[in-house]
Amino acid sequence: MDNRPIGIFDSGLGGLTAVREILTILPREQVVYFGDTGRVPYGTRSRETIIKYARQDVEFLLSKNVKMVIAACGTVSSVARQISQQIPVLFTGVVEPTALAASLATHNQRVGVIGTTATIQSGSYRRALNALNLDIQVFEQDCPLFVPLVEHGFADPEDPVAKLVAERYLAPLKQHNIDTLIMGCTHYPILREVIGNVMGKGVTLIDSGRETACYAAEILRRQNALCPDGQRSDCAFYVSDRVEGFSKAASVFLGQNVGTNVQYIDINAFVPDDGVRIEK
Ligand code: DGL
Repeated sequence: MDNRPIGIFDSGLGGLTAVREILTILPREQVVYFGDTGRVPYGTRSRETIIKYARQDVEFLLSKNVKMVIAACGTVSSVARQISQQIPVLFTGVVEPTALAASLATHNQRVGVIGTTATIQSGSYRRALNALNLDIQVFEQDCPLFVPLVEHGFADPEDPVAKLVAERYLAPLKQHNIDTLIMGCTHYPILREVIGNVMGKGVTLIDSGRETACYAAEILRRQNALCPDGQRSDCAFYVSDRVEGFSKAASVFLGQNVGTNVQYIDINAFVPDDGVRIEK
């Protein structure tokens, strides 16, 4: 048993898709969440920048004495894979758990992947799917406008802007007769209904935040590192820019008022412990 918190990070709101699931399946766990709202989006940035940001995010979570780090970010999980070797606690990203769920869900072995530009360019989901099953054909599409749509609250299934953008991005995938679609960026499940309406009922949507949370829970169980009985779940949120916008969106998404639990932190004050100063 281990009553330290689970640390979860993302560039913004997307990682809340993993938080929501963790709080549901592990109702005794404490969660520390960091959303790098001052530097979102990650998915349009260079590899060097994404690695630098990810290392600072991990450093912040480690300062909170977490027992596990979840990189609830498809971009970090795809581009900054090497950070896992430098983390002294349990760790998971989103790519492997999500690819596993998709490989089990597909019947016709035709799987679509949507993600940020950095994620799609990395080919991470394609590799993970084919490592599980070489017969799976993978069709990929980056959807760079989805993250700003989510961050700015354009996620209602009836929102004409969200619908139009989704139709435009998903049209090529619809021609490939896929039966399974990986929402490979953790922001995208917030657009689940919009995406589902465009793809139609015959396509199973795989939620990277949810699959990763289930996988993390399984690791904690196997390592006997869950919180002891009698504790109630709790979540502290940290952001690197204005608290208000995040509080409002997170409260709606998580279905509970998180207002007083959100704090600003200066993420540039967190420097990985290797003597290399990260420039502000
Ligand atoms: N939610 C993240 C991901 O899963 C990051 C999106 C972004 O910041 O571009 O890729």
